[in-house]
Amino acid sequence: MKRILTGDRPTGKLHLGHYMGSLRNRVRLQHEYDTFLIIADVQALTTNWETPEQLACDVREVTKDNLAAGIDPEAATIFVQSMVPQIAELTVFYSMFVPVNVLRHNPTIKTEAAQKGYKDLMYGFLGYPISQAADITFCKAHLVPVGKDQVPHLELTRKIARRFNELYGKVLVEPEAMVQGILAGLDGNAKMSKSLDNAVYLADPPEEVVRKTNTAVTDPARIRKHDPGHPEVCTVFSYQSEFAPRFAEELEVACRKGEIGCVECKQQLAHTLNELLAPMRERRVYYDARHDLVDEILRAGTKRAVEVGAETLAQVKDAMKIDYFAQEAALAR
Ligand code: TRP
Repeated sequence: MKRILTGDRPTGKLHLGHYMGSLRNRVRLQHEYDTFLIIADVQALTTNWETPEQLACDVREVTKDNLAAGIDPEAATIFVQSMVPQIAELTVFYSMFVPVNVLRHNPTIKTEAAQKGYKDLMYGFLGYPISQAADITFCKAHLVPVGKDQVPHLELTRKIARRFNELYGKVLVEPEAMVQGILAGLDGNAKMSKSLDNAVYLADPPEEVVRKTNTAVTDPARIRKHDPGHPEVCTVFSYQSEFAPRFAEELEVACRKGEIGCVECKQQLAHTLNELLAPMRERRVYYDARHDLVDEILRAGTKRAVEVGAETLAQVKDAMKIDYFAQEAALAR
């Protein structure tokens, strides 16, 4: 079975942007691929190093977000990044042959640094794409479902795998990205994100979804209900085409003809989103009442990840000829 690796930074609850970018695909593919889901707590520290005590809670929240979204813990391996030491070790080896300028020019690093107002970048932040390459290659993943913003990291991962294999011998798998678009924020910003406060969370209760969809920006040129609308610039329409594509076709016609107003359209959207989120809420109630089960899922997943990581690391050291005592044992034979 081919392998998937993907995952999230535990910096808070996951939202619809995460769902569209990656969760939806991981749920859909979890039985076709051997699916590994990383809770990237070390990567979360690249921005949240001042509040590490927050991670204990966020690691579990993000795990529950995945389970609520429909991840089957019997099928997928969910694990904690910091508890798989082989990922940290691979990061060190890869960092020997990744030029600093490649990292400095990574567009996602640049955007995130600008958003956070970072000037002199921390070493760990600048280098996290190398660590992400280790996240992906430690289990020799073939496929990585991610949002478009992750493409530069996937390109680097492919380069690292290729370079490693050229330098030392073929050990690593060059993974393919499975790329989804980026979901806009409720405020019309190009990206839904927690820091921009424009997100609908997977854990939001129904009333909150209604309240938030009412604030969503629509076509600014539309003043009266019967003005013809422009769905292509409307956030509400973009969500409908993503989460209820058939219904969106009807809406598009009605909007262009000025037959449906924005107020009604927002109500329809709340309905679409609440239908999508209802089964997730049910599963969340189940896991919220079972803390021990969530921890057990993480413990078992991490154990398996460590086994897989140990195997890859042994091959990596063998290829690099730095498994000194193993070589000695071979020579003595
Ligand atoms: N960088 C990803 C994000 O911000 C999270 C992540 C960490 C990830 N390691 C990964 C995604 C490996 C895919 C594969 O969402």
